[in-house]
Amino acid sequence: MSAHLIDGKAFAARLREKVAASVAILKAEQGIVPGLAAVLVGNDPASAVYVRNKGVQTVAAGMATFEHKLPAQTAEVELLALIAQLNADPAVHGILVQLPLPPHIDADAVINAINPAKDVDGFHVTNVGLLATGQRSMIPCTPLGCLMLPREHFGNLAGRKAVVVGRSNIVGKPMAQLLLRESCTVTIAHSRTENLAAICRQADILVAAVGRAEMITGDFIKPGAVVIDVGINQIEWEDRVRLVGDVQRDSAAGIAGALTPVPGGVGPMTIACLLANTLTACCRISGLEDPEGLAA
Ligand code: GUN
Repeated sequence: MSAHLIDGKAFAARLREKVAASVAILKAEQGIVPGLAAVLVGNDPASAVYVRNKGVQTVAAGMATFEHKLPAQTAEVELLALIAQLNADPAVHGILVQLPLPPHIDADAVINAINPAKDVDGFHVTNVGLLATGQRSMIPCTPLGCLMLPREHFGNLAGRKAVVVGRSNIVGKPMAQLLLRESCTVTIAHSRTENLAAICRQADILVAAVGRAEMITGDFIKPGAVVIDVGINQIEWEDRVRLVGDVQRDSAAGIAGALTPVPGGVGPMTIACLLANTLTACCRISGLEDPEGLAA
C-alpha cells in the first residue's frame, strides 16, 4: 500500500484563510492592522525568494509588511540599530531577521536584541526557554507547521514514539520540545547517531530535518508511521536541478502510513505559521486574547 501524501499546500492555504479572516475582524472591531517587518542582509538568492514570498503572503492576509534590505557589508551595530527602531515602532508586531546572516555578524546577538514579544520566529533565548519550560511563548514556524500535520492524522499524539532527526535551533530542537509537550516519547537523533535506521524504525512519528538529500530510506521507517520531511535539497538529476527532501520518497511511500511530499509538504506551512504567529504577537501586544485555533 502506498502512503497517504499529506497535502501541506492545501493545509497551509486553509490556515492562511483563517488568519486572514481573523485579521479582518481585528481591523473592523479594533482598528488594528498586524504588521510584520522582514530584514534581509546580503544577496543570498534563496533568502531573497523566501523574504519576497513572505511579503506577498503577508499582504494577501491583510497585514502590513515592512521590508528592510541591507547590503552584505552592513555592520552589526547598524543592524542592531534597525532592530531597536523596529522594537520601538508600534506598527510593527513581528520582526523576522532572515538567516543565515553574513559571517561577520553575530546572529545570536541580533536575534536576542529583538523584543521577545515581537520575535515571530521564536528564536530569542527567552522564547526558547519559555517553550522548554512549558510556558506561553512564540513558537518557531517550521516546527509549528510540522506539528499540525501528524496532529491532523493521529488526533491526540500522547504516548506516541517520535524521532526527530536533526538538532538545529530552527527545527530539530524546538520540534522535539513541541512533541514532548504533546506527551510523545521523544528521541533526538542526528547525522552522528549510531544505529540511526533502527532508532528511526521505532518511530510512530518520524521528522527528518537533517539536511541530507534522501538520507532516510524505506528501511528507516516503521510500517504505518507518519513521516514529516523538512529537507529541501537541490540535486542534479538528468542534467537538471531537482528539489528533494531528506526522505527518499519512493522507498518511504511503500512503508509509511502518511508522508509529506517535497515540495508541497512542510514548506508552505512555514509561511502560513509565520502569519499566524504575527497575528498572535499582535493580539498579545494589544492586550487581546490569542486568536482561537491558531496557536500550537
Ligand atoms: N532561514 C531558514 N529558515 C528560517 C526561518 O524559519 N526563519 C528565519 N528568520 N530564517 C530562516
